[in-house]
Amino acid sequence: MIEDIAYVHYRVSSLQKTAEFLRDFGLLEAGAVGNRHYWKAHGSSAFCYVAEEGQPSFVGIGFRAESVDALKALAEREGVPVVDSNAPGGHKSIRLVDPDGWEIEILAGGTPTAAVPAAREPMTINYGVTKNRIDAYQRLRVEPSEILRLGHLVLNVTDITKSLPWYQEKLGLLVSDEIYDDIHDRPFGAFCRLNRGETPVDHHSLGLFGIGKKGIHHASFEVQDFDSVQTGHYALDKKGWKHQFGIGRHVIGSQVFDYWRDPDGFRVEHFCDGDMLTSGPQPHRTNLTSPEAVHQWGPEVPQDFFD
Ligand SMILES: [Fe+2]
Repeated sequence: MIEDIAYVHYRVSSLQKTAEFLRDFGLLEAGAVGNRHYWKAHGSSAFCYVAEEGQPSFVGIGFRAESVDALKALAEREGVPVVDSNAPGGHKSIRLVDPDGWEIEILAGGTPTAAVPAAREPMTINYGVTKNRIDAYQRLRVEPSEILRLGHLVLNVTDITKSLPWYQEKLGLLVSDEIYDDIHDRPFGAFCRLNRGETPVDHHSLGLFGIGKKGIHHASFEVQDFDSVQTGHYALDKKGWKHQFGIGRHVIGSQVFDYWRDPDGFRVEHFCDGDMLTSGPQPHRTNLTSPEAVHQWGPEVPQDFFD
């Protein structure tokens, strides 16, 4: 029913400053409608990031339904109208409100925008025992990562026992990994994937951390490969943007990750090489205090990663 996560929506203190950062982070401007400014990834998706000026805050999430018929069925079940979105892309849209009051928009249909120049092809890698590149050289430049898509969001939620069932029931999300608070002996969080049957999907499109107050932990954008994470890192570093955590490889989802702070302090992540799952695997449980809760390798986890 839900095909993918579509966009993240923020209020930011300065659209100009945010635009400077997003250019260096690797997103492309996709125009404005009213006070809302849109940015897109490489490819034909109309947008994946929305910002408007105001008191800095997270506003909501967009998901994409697999068809207009699927959207209509969901609208009927929820008793909400299907409307024409005025955002780029010409989608049909419905809006729901999650238990913390966030706007959850679901889009369908629309017309693909003209694809911007595609991101570079995957690299041909010479491994220790398998040599794939002969009589050819590896040459890369330090420049902003080419972002392919929004991959996932992780939200801080007021009550995990309310938020998790809501997303499971409304959007059909499946739990890939549950995080258990072994100190207080209660559920803490969950990393959830879309249910597309035998079609593989990202290990998580939405993560929920039950920290007792609402907010966004981070938004994560997929890039082509490890070199793109690295070259993107040095491009942001050269411009003086604030690094947060990385580069490392997560346990939950296995992604190679690199976290940055945008001008308002929101965490944004580049990732590559995440796990892909069908609807088959059952949830895996990780204890909150497990040394494997965050990463397999990488720098020491900074304390402000848990804010
Ligand atoms: Fe992430």
